[in-house]
Amino acid sequence: MTSIIAVANASGSAGKTTTVVTLADLIGQTRRVVVVDADAQGTATSWLGYPPDEVQITLGDVLLRRASLDEALLPTRTTGVRLVPSNRTLDAAAIELNSVIGREQRLRLALTGIDADVVLIDCPGSVSTITISALVAANAILTVTQPTMKEIAGVPEMLDAVQAVQEAFNPNLVFAGIVPCIVPPATHGKIYSDVMGLLHTTYQPLVAPPVRRSARVAEAHAQAVPLPSWSPTDKVTGDYHDVHDWLKGRGVL
Ligand SMILES: Nc1ncnc2c1ncn2[C@@H]1O[C@H](COP(=O)(O)OP(=O)(O)O)[C@@H](O)[C@H]1O
Ligand SMILES: [Mg+2]
Repeated sequence: MTSIIAVANASGSAGKTTTVVTLADLIGQTRRVVVVDADAQGTATSWLGYPPDEVQITLGDVLLRRASLDEALLPTRTTGVRLVPSNRTLDAAAIELNSVIGREQRLRLALTGIDADVVLIDCPGSVSTITISALVAANAILTVTQPTMKEIAGVPEMLDAVQAVQEAFNPNLVFAGIVPCIVPPATHGKIYSDVMGLLHTTYQPLVAPPVRRSARVAEAHAQAVPLPSWSPTDKVTGDYHDVHDWLKGRGVL
């Protein structure tokens, strides 16, 4: 059976795309992965080697049934990883989708029977129609947060959205966990370790191993190569190995 994991959060930029692209590379070393770029910014698309404005068939076309999933799927240079790309046309597609009956089910139906072991859906940074569609399609949702009060305040909003989707559409949706991302070193201030402590006391055992901050992440994106392939020995590659193993231990992967 295919594991479909949505990576989503309620409050903007926190490491979702980095988590999706990095885990895709790690999982792709032994299994067949599809990354679904569900964000109009197209960051996963560019990171996996395609300038977003140059892709012809996108997730938006699939959701509006102008193309099949197979027509949208692209190979990538990363072993074991294929991509359903997106670009800024997804915003217009989402508006058009709003008048479609059963819009929340479109992604689930498109992914039914997909030939892959793992599908990772990179969601936009808000609880939009597209994010809801991803939660309806998924077996599990993974959220990410930076260790600041402002960012962790988005976690309850995400949990509420998950509960609403479980009630309305997808009772089997599992809340897989929370990945603390872009975690600065302890020397950068007590506030970060205080927030990490709060995260653990509030959400344990749902808190994944933390992912530290590293300039290599931006470097890897600029080179359009996932971090583990770009820098196999970087500390953040090691951190994502730990997140991968943690997800495996929880039966999510
Ligand atoms: N572990 C990390 N260390 C340093 N920078 C990071 C790390 N993870 C993400 N970033 C940077 O933070 C920004 C947001 O990350 P991204 O993964 O695109 O988040 P999102 O998809 O949630 O918007 C990007 O500029 C990215 O390069
Ligand atoms: Mg992103």
